[in-house]
Amino acid sequence: MKSQEYIELEERIGAHNYHPLDVVLTRGEGVWVYDVDGNKYLDCLSSYSALNQGHVHPRILKALIEQASKLTLTSRAFRSDQLALFYKEITELTGYDMVLPMNSGAEAVETALKVARKWGYVSKKVPRNKAEIIVAEGNFHGRTISIISFSSEPAYKDDFGPHTPGFISVPFGDASALEKAITPNTVGVMLEPIQGESGVNIPPDGYLKKVREICTKTNTLFMADEIQTGLGRTGKLFATMYDDVRADILILGKALGGGFYPVSAVLADNFVLGLIKPGDHGSTFGGNPLAAAVARESLKVLIEEKLTENAAIQGEYFLEQLSEINSPKIKEVRGRGLLIGIEVTKEAGKARKYCEALMKEGILAKETHEQIIRFAPPLTIDRATIDWALDKIRKVLMEN
Ligand SMILES: Cc1ncc(COP(=O)(O)O)c(C=O)c1O
Repeated sequence: MKSQEYIELEERIGAHNYHPLDVVLTRGEGVWVYDVDGNKYLDCLSSYSALNQGHVHPRILKALIEQASKLTLTSRAFRSDQLALFYKEITELTGYDMVLPMNSGAEAVETALKVARKWGYVSKKVPRNKAEIIVAEGNFHGRTISIISFSSEPAYKDDFGPHTPGFISVPFGDASALEKAITPNTVGVMLEPIQGESGVNIPPDGYLKKVREICTKTNTLFMADEIQTGLGRTGKLFATMYDDVRADILILGKALGGGFYPVSAVLADNFVLGLIKPGDHGSTFGGNPLAAAVARESLKVLIEEKLTENAAIQGEYFLEQLSEINSPKIKEVRGRGLLIGIEVTKEAGKARKYCEALMKEGILAKETHEQIIRFAPPLTIDRATIDWALDKIRKVLMEN
C-alpha cells in the first residue's frame, strides 16, 4: 500500500482526535525513521519525549524479546521476578523510598492526585472531600476527565464537563500567586518543571525552589510531573534539579518504557506512598513483568550510555545555533537540553506550515499550539546530525 491509501483509510474509520503530519512510518532506528515510500527522516519529536533512548534500541529490544518469551503478565494478584528488581533499581536511581507502577502518563498523574488526597485526609487532617490541589495555567498532565478538569485549554475541556472539583489554577512561574492560593485544605501543588505541551515554557530561575519552600512551610506536597521533562530530556536526570529541588511526589512515564511499551510510575517516600493499602488503587497491566523488564533496561541504557550528559551537550549546541538564526519569522527560541521550542511570529503564519516544510526536508517536528515548533530528538543524537538538521531548519525558516 502507498502512503495515500493508509492515510485515506485512517481518516475514514479512525476518530480524528489527532492531526498528524501526512507521513506513514514503517521503520525506525536510533534517531531516524523511514516511511512506506522509502523516505528517511530525522525524528525531532521522539513521540513527545517517549523515545529518549532512540527508536528500537537494541538492548531494550533484547530485554523485551527475552521477557516476552518467558512471562508477560501476572496482574498484581501474583508477584513476578521482574517487579521487585524494577522497584529496587528505580528507587535507587531516584532516591525515593517507594514506587507505584502504572502504564500511561495520565494514569500516573491520576495516581499521584489520589495519593496526595489520601495523604491530605489521613496525615494533614484535611476535612473529608475538601482537599485542594494547586496547578498551573497552561498545564498539560494528560486527558482523563479529572486531569482535563484543571486544564486551561478550552479545546481540551469545554465539551467534556461536568468537571472534577478540587483544583485551583494559578499563573505558571508566579510563586507569590501560588502562595496566596494555598489554604489549610491544600494538599498538593502539581507542576511540570518546564511546560512542554504548552510551548516549552521555562519558569523564571528559582521559581521551583520558591515553590518547594512554600510547600515545606505550609505542609503541602510538591508534585513534579516529569513525564516529559524527566529521564534526561532537559540535560539533567530531572528538570527540577536545575533548581536543586526534590519533589515529594515524582511522576514519570514516557521514556521509562524506552519507546517500546507504556510504563509509568509514581515515586515518593514512605510517609506518602506508605499510606496506600490493598484495594486503594490498581491496574491490571500496571507493573507487569514485561513492563518491568523494559523499564529496567531503559533506565540502564539511559545511565550507561550517558544520555542525560549527551542531552546537555548537544542541547546547548542546538539551542545556541538555533538562537543565531536571524529570521524575522522567529519570535523566540527557548529550551533546556534537548527540549527546545521555536516560537514563530503571528505574521510568519502558523507553526504547522513550517513543520510541513521541514518534513519535505527530511525532519519530523510537530507544532505545539499554533505558533511553536518543538524540537525534541532522541537523546542519542550526535553533533553531525544536529549540524545536518540545522542546515535544513535554517533553510525552512529563511525561505518559507
Ligand atoms: C507533562 C505530561 N504529563 C502527562 C502526560 C500524559 O501522558 P500520556 O499521554 O502517556 O497519558 C504528558 C503527555 O504528553 C505530559 O507531557
